Amino acid sequence: MKKAWITPDIRTKAQQLLARLSLEQKAGQMTQYDWGFNPINPDTGLSQRDVISEQIAQGHVGSVFNLAGAEEANRLQKLALGEDGEGVPLLIGRDVIHGYRTVFPIPLAQASAWNPALAGATAAAASREALADGVAWVFAPMIDVSRDPRWGRIAESIGEDPYLASAYAEAWVRGSQIDGDGKGNDDGDGGDGSGDGVGADTAVASCPKHYAGYGLAEAGRDYNTVDLSDRVLREVILPPFRQAVEAGALTIMASFNEVNGVPACANRYLLTTILREEWGFEGVVASDYNALQELITHGVAADEEEACLLALRAGTDVDMASGIYIRHLPRLVREGKVPESLVDEAVLRILAVKLKLGLLERPFVAPSDYATDERLPAEHIALARQAARESIVLLRNEGGVLPLSKSARAIAVIGPLADSRKDPLGCWAFDGRPDDVVSVLEGVRQAADQEAVVSYAKGCEVDSDSASGESDLAEALEAAGKADVVVLALGETFEMSGEARCRTNLDLPGGQRRLVEAVSKLGKPIVAVLLTGRPLAIPWLQEYADAIVQAWHLGVQSGHGIADVLFGDYNPGGRLTATFPLNVGQVPIYYYRKKTGRPPGGVYTSYYLDSSTDPLYPFGFGLSYTSFRYGEILCAKPRVALGEAFELSAQVTNTGDREGEEVVQCYVRDEAASVTQPLKKLVGFRKIRLKAGESEVVTFVLGEESLAIIDADMNATVESGDFTVWIGPSSAEGESVRLTVEAPAQ
Ligand code: BGC
Repeated sequence: MKKAWITPDIRTKAQQLLARLSLEQKAGQMTQYDWGFNPINPDTGLSQRDVISEQIAQGHVGSVFNLAGAEEANRLQKLALGEDGEGVPLLIGRDVIHGYRTVFPIPLAQASAWNPALAGATAAAASREALADGVAWVFAPMIDVSRDPRWGRIAESIGEDPYLASAYAEAWVRGSQIDGDGKGNDDGDGGDGSGDGVGADTAVASCPKHYAGYGLAEAGRDYNTVDLSDRVLREVILPPFRQAVEAGALTIMASFNEVNGVPACANRYLLTTILREEWGFEGVVASDYNALQELITHGVAADEEEACLLALRAGTDVDMASGIYIRHLPRLVREGKVPESLVDEAVLRILAVKLKLGLLERPFVAPSDYATDERLPAEHIALARQAARESIVLLRNEGGVLPLSKSARAIAVIGPLADSRKDPLGCWAFDGRPDDVVSVLEGVRQAADQEAVVSYAKGCEVDSDSASGESDLAEALEAAGKADVVVLALGETFEMSGEARCRTNLDLPGGQRRLVEAVSKLGKPIVAVLLTGRPLAIPWLQEYADAIVQAWHLGVQSGHGIADVLFGDYNPGGRLTATFPLNVGQVPIYYYRKKTGRPPGGVYTSYYLDSSTDPLYPFGFGLSYTSFRYGEILCAKPRVALGEAFELSAQVTNTGDREGEEVVQCYVRDEAASVTQPLKKLVGFRKIRLKAGESEVVTFVLGEESLAIIDADMNATVESGDFTVWIGPSSAEGESVRLTVEAPAQ
C-alpha cells in the first residue's frame, strides 16, 4: 500500500538524525513560520525575518512558507545547514492551490471538468514550477466537501459530493507529489507530469486540507462553528481524506474548526484515532495558520502552555505560524508535563518526510527557467487552455445562439469582467501575474475573423452601483446597439471568493443586473459569461440572456478557453459539481439529501411557502452543442447475493451533428436501510467523447464500495434489499432500474 512509505532505511536515518537534536531543535523541527509576514518589532527594531533567520541558524525552525523564489530558498537552506553543513534542511511550503506561476482554473472549475486526471496534470505542473523555486510542500489539495455557496472557500473545493471529491483527492495527491531531480523536472516518467503518490524519488509533499469539516461552517460564514455528527463526518466529510491518505499524501492539514466541540488541531479522535489508528497514516499533521494560538481564542485552552499540550497530545506535529511549540515544548518536557517520546514521534515523522523528499541529499535548487523566464512554459500554457475549456459549463443556450459565428459582423464584449486580467486568476493565486492572463476580450478578439468588429465597454462596476456608472452604462449601450451579438462578461472579482470572502447575497454584485436589464432592451442576442468563484442564485438572468456560460475563474488561459467555447472550437462538456440555488433561502441545497418522513403533497410536507424546493441548476448539470440519448439500462443479473456486484450498462448515443463530450453519471439509492440514506448518491461517472452519430456502451460495476452504508454502529456494510440505480446526464435526470441484494438463506 502506498500510504506505508516509511521504509526501514528511512526510519533508521530519521532516528540517527533525531539522536543528534537537542530538545530545542526537536521543537524547532515542529515549528513552521510564515516568511511572508514580516512586521518590525518596535522595541528591538528587528524584523520578524531577522528573528526567524537567527532561529533557523540555531536549528530552531523546521519549516517556512511564503518565500519569494529559488535564491531566497537556497539562502535559508544554507542557514539551516549551518557552517558545518550538518543541520537539518527546511521544508519549504506554499499555498499552491491551482497553479503556481501558471495559474490554472480554480478547483471548483477544474471539478466541473469531471476529469480528475487532468487536475492531476495541472497539479503536477504547478508542483514542477513550485519545486524550481525551492517549494517542496504544497498546501493542497483542498478537499473539503462544500455545500454552501455563501462560503467563499467553495471556490477552492471540488464541490458538494464526497465521491467526486475523493476521485479528485486521489488524482491531485498523486499529481502534486511529483518525482524530481531538484530542477523541477520529472525524471523517469517521460516528463508527462504524472506523479506517483509516493514513488521512490518523490520530491514534493502534498497537504490535503482542511481535516475535517471546515466546509460546513454554519451559515456559510468562514471560521464559524461546525456542528457535525459522526455520521456526516464519516459518510460525507472523511471519504476524500481517506482517499488522499490511500493515495500516499505525505502530510495533512488540520482545520480551524471544531469537531464535536474540539478544534481540529486539539482533536485526538480526528488526528490519532481515525487518521493514524484507523487509516494507518504515517505522515505529518500540520496545524492550520496560527491554529494553536486559536485554541485559546476558541476557549479550549487557558494559555499557550495548555494549547501546546493539547495540540501535541492530539497528534499535531507541525505548528504553523504560532511559535507555541518552540516557546513551550522544551520546558514542558523538562518539567515532566509531557513525555519526550511524544515529541520524538512527531519529529521522527517530520524527518522521515524530509528524507523521503530527498531534502537531505538535495537541499538546494538550481535557479530555473520557470522562475526566471518571462514566458510561461509552453506545455503548461497548453494544459491551462485545456483545463480552462473543460471547466466551462454551458447552462443555457436558447435558440442555438451559441456557438457564435466567427464571421459575425460586430460583436460587443461588455461587462466589468470583460477586460480584467486580474480577476480570472481567482483566489489563492499568489504567484500568478495578471500580465500572463488572456482576458475575455482578448480571447474573443483573437478568435473572431479579422473582418469582425469586436467592441468593448465596461458597462458598470462589480463592487459598486454608484452614480458614476451612468457614463459606463451609456457607453455599453452604444457598443451593444451596433453589435449583432452581445457577450456580457459578468461575475465576481478575484477578491469575492476564497478565504474569509463570504457573501449572504448570491446575486451578481454591483451594477451588473442593471447593466443586463438595460442591454436587453436593445433586443440583441445576449450571451452571459459568468466569471465567478461560486454558484450564484440568478434565476432572473434566464429571462434576459439567451445563453449562459458558467466560466468561473479560469486562470491564465481564461479568455482563450472561453472563446474556444463561444465560437464552438471546443464543444463544452463541463457539469456542475455544486448546486446552483434558486435563492439564498434554499441554502444549503445539494442533491445528496435525505428523504424526510413526509410524503410529498399536502400542506404538512417539506416545502417553502414562497419558493420551489428545486434548485436553479442541479448537481451534474451542463449542456452541450450536441445532444445525447441514453438507451435502456441493462443488467444481466438484477438479483445478486450479498458480497456480489451488479454490472450495469447503458448505451449513450450522440444524436446531434457535432462531436461532443458527455459525463455519464451513475447514482444509487438504498431503498430501505437500517439508517436513513440519501435519495441519490453518486457512485460512478465516465466522461466520454462521441462523434456525431456515434454510440458507446458505458458500464458500471457496483460492488461493496458503491452499495455499502454506514450502519448504526458506524460500520460500513452492505444490507440486503432493494436498490434503485440511475444512469443519466445529471443528478436530476436519467432512467433507473430496481436491483436486489438477496438476504442470505436462513
Ligand atoms: C488557510 C490554509 C492555508 C494557510 C497558509 C490558512 O489561513 O486556511 O488553507 O494553507 O492559511 O497560508
